[in-house]
Amino acid sequence: MRKLVKSFGILIALGVVLAGGLIAVAYAVSASHLSKSYTIKDTVIALPTSAAEIAEGKRLFESRGCAECHGANLAGTTFVDDGGIGRFSGANLTTGKGGLASHRSNADFERAIRHGVGSDGHPLRFMPSMDFDRMTNQDVGRIIAYIRSAPAIDREIPQQKIGIMARILFLFDKIPVLIAAEKINHAAAHRESMTPARDAAYGKYVGATCTGCHRETMQGGPIEGAPPAWPPASNITAKGLGKYTEETFVNLLHTGKRPDKTAINPIMPWKNFSKMTDTEMRALWLYLQTL
Ligand code: HEC
Ligand code: HEC
Repeated sequence: MRKLVKSFGILIALGVVLAGGLIAVAYAVSASHLSKSYTIKDTVIALPTSAAEIAEGKRLFESRGCAECHGANLAGTTFVDDGGIGRFSGANLTTGKGGLASHRSNADFERAIRHGVGSDGHPLRFMPSMDFDRMTNQDVGRIIAYIRSAPAIDREIPQQKIGIMARILFLFDKIPVLIAAEKINHAAAHRESMTPARDAAYGKYVGATCTGCHRETMQGGPIEGAPPAWPPASNITAKGLGKYTEETFVNLLHTGKRPDKTAINPIMPWKNFSKMTDTEMRALWLYLQTL
C-alpha cells in the first residue's frame, strides 16, 4: 500500500512538472509570435460619401459580424471572458474617449480589417481578419466610411488577457483567430468590387463570414478557440443541409428557426445575418449547395 501511495505521488509530481513545462513553452512561443512585426504597405481606398453608401457600410458592418464584437454603437464590447481562453473586447472604433478613430488613418483601418495588423505593425489578437481578407476595396471603403460617420462614444476598453488555454491551443495551431495575421497571404491582390448576383461565386464571397466558425470547408465541428460552453458548428455543405430547402435556409437566417421550427443556439449569429440582402442569402445557398 505504502509503495502504491509513493508511486502515485511520483506520478502526480511528474504530471505537475510536465504541465509546468507545457505552460512555459506555450507562453514563450505565443509571446514570440505576438511580438512579431509586419510591414504592410498603405492601401489607398477612396471613401464613398453618399448617405446610401454609408448606409450600405452599416449594413455590411452588421451582417458581416463586426457589430458582434465592436458593438452596434461601435464602442466595443467584451465578447469572450473565460478563465482559460482569456478576455477579449473589440476596439472602440469611435472618436470618443477610449476610442481609436482619431489616432488611425484609413490605411490603418484597412490594415486592421484585411491583414489583422495594428498601426504599430504588431498582429491584432482575436480580430478575425482571415474572414475579411478577401473583401473588395469597395466594401472595405464603405465600412470605413461608416466607421468614420459614427458618433463619438466614451468607453475605455478593458485590458486584453490571453488565457493559458489559448496559449496552449496556439502551440498546437488550434486557435487561428488569436493571431489572424499569420493565416493571411499579405501579398494577395484585392478585387476592386464585385457585383451582387444570385450565383455561387458571389455566395462564396459572402460566405467568407461563415468560415470562422463553420471552417473553410463548411463542414463545421468544434469552433476553434471558442470557450468550451459553445456548441460545435453544424455541417452546412449540401449534405449537412439535406433537410433544408432554399426557402427554409433563408427563413433560418431571418428568424433563427430550423425547418422543424426549433430555435437555433444564439452562438450562431443569425440576427446579424438577417441584415443580409435576399440576393446575398440566395447566393450563399447556391454556393453551399456546391460543397
Ligand atoms: C470576433 C470578434 C471580432 C470581430 C467579428 C471583428 N473584430 Fe475588429 N477587433 C477585434 C478585437 C479583439 C480587436 C482588438 C485587437 C487588438 O487590439 O489586439 C479588434 C480591432 C479592430 C480594429 C482596430 C485595430 C487597431 O488599429 O488597433 C478595427 C479597425 C477593427 N477591429 C475593425 C473590424 C471590422 C470592420 C470588422 C468587421 C468586418 C471587425 N473588426 C470584426 C475583434 C473583432
Ligand atoms: C460565431 C460562429 C458562427 C458563425 C460566424 C456562423 N455560424 Fe452557423 N452555426 C454556428 C453554430 C454554433 C451552429 C449550431 C447551432 C446549434 O447547434 O443550435 C450553427 C448552425 C448553422 C446552421 C444550422 C444547421 C442545422 O444543423 O440545422 C446553418 C444553416 C448555419 N449555421 C449557417 C451559417 C451561415 C450561412 C453562416 C455565414 C453567413 C454562419 N452559419 C456563420 C455558429 C456560427
